[in-house]
Amino acid sequence: MVAIFPENKHRMPLTPIFNPQGDDRIENRTIWFGNTTNLMQLNDVRYSWAIGLYQQMRENFWIPQKLDITQDVTDYWNLTNDERRAFEGILSYLTFLDSVQTCNIPHLKSSITAPEISLCMAEQISQEGMHNHAYQYMIETIIPSEKRDKVYDFWRTDKVLAGRCEFIARMYQKYIDNPTEENYFIALLADYLLESLYFYNGFIYFYNLAARMLMPGSADIFKMINRDELSHVRLYQRLIPEAMRSFPHSLDQIYEMFDTAVQHECRWTNHIVGDNILGITQSSTERYTKYLANIRLRAIGLDPLYTDPEYSKSPYTHLEKFSDTKKDGNTKANFFESSVTSYVMSSGVAGWEEI
Ligand SMILES: [Fe+2]
Ligand SMILES: [Fe+2]
Repeated sequence: MVAIFPENKHRMPLTPIFNPQGDDRIENRTIWFGNTTNLMQLNDVRYSWAIGLYQQMRENFWIPQKLDITQDVTDYWNLTNDERRAFEGILSYLTFLDSVQTCNIPHLKSSITAPEISLCMAEQISQEGMHNHAYQYMIETIIPSEKRDKVYDFWRTDKVLAGRCEFIARMYQKYIDNPTEENYFIALLADYLLESLYFYNGFIYFYNLAARMLMPGSADIFKMINRDELSHVRLYQRLIPEAMRSFPHSLDQIYEMFDTAVQHECRWTNHIVGDNILGITQSSTERYTKYLANIRLRAIGLDPLYTDPEYSKSPYTHLEKFSDTKKDGNTKANFFESSVTSYVMSSGVAGWEEI
């Protein structure tokens, strides 16, 4: 075992609710450990990227129920048993991920001392809650009523998934139970892993179905969720390098957390998708997950963990057109046809490299 974080028992400070003696001057503003008044003073900010990101998150606004998923109700019965099991299992898993995010982000946010960062996190919390509403809409519309409870409960009745959920939640719970600076850093990194690694084999599954003309409404919903998640990834890609300068940590621990995350993600994906779905294999899952881990590490200024050239490229580039909300006319058509003109599609949607 590598050495864990340096010994540090400092309790993570929480921002006060009311602090008229605080100092909001931008030269003294920091993301953590500052002396904020908590006033949302956004006219003059230190982290101007956060205002741009917040604006983009707001422009991404969408309502799941405005997307048409009626074709999927029919398609569901045309799926193979393995495809149906994967459809339901992945929905259950993603419901867990967004639930735990909705619950945990407020804990991380309560120590933030730059209001522009708080603003982004507040929007993130709202989006994670809405993603749960999207899953509920899909489950209630597509899955027959007698099976729904089973899908909702799958996260705790399926042994592999239950273990995975427990591991994810434990990283967060550790900070709640023992709110030290090093546990805050671990929770923040766990958050980055969730946002940047844990959703994507699930997204790929739905784009894979869409590529085979199956469940197009579900894919449209996942494109929207995918776009939101990428804005969250961008937030943590900014926060983690800053946190590495502000918190006690060890690089070995970061790499160990990434490697464990990759192993867990592959184990779960092999369990729920495996080699039983056309276009996805245990090998492509491994290549994709390690490729993702490498680009997520690079994005926070660290060297890739998996140096073999096969992990430098995504095996799913052919699915790009199914994930890109800018290129796919169908999503836009559905989106605009069934909604009012005040919805604005963001021009800041990233390309496949960031998916
Ligand atoms: Fe989410
Ligand atoms: Fe997220």
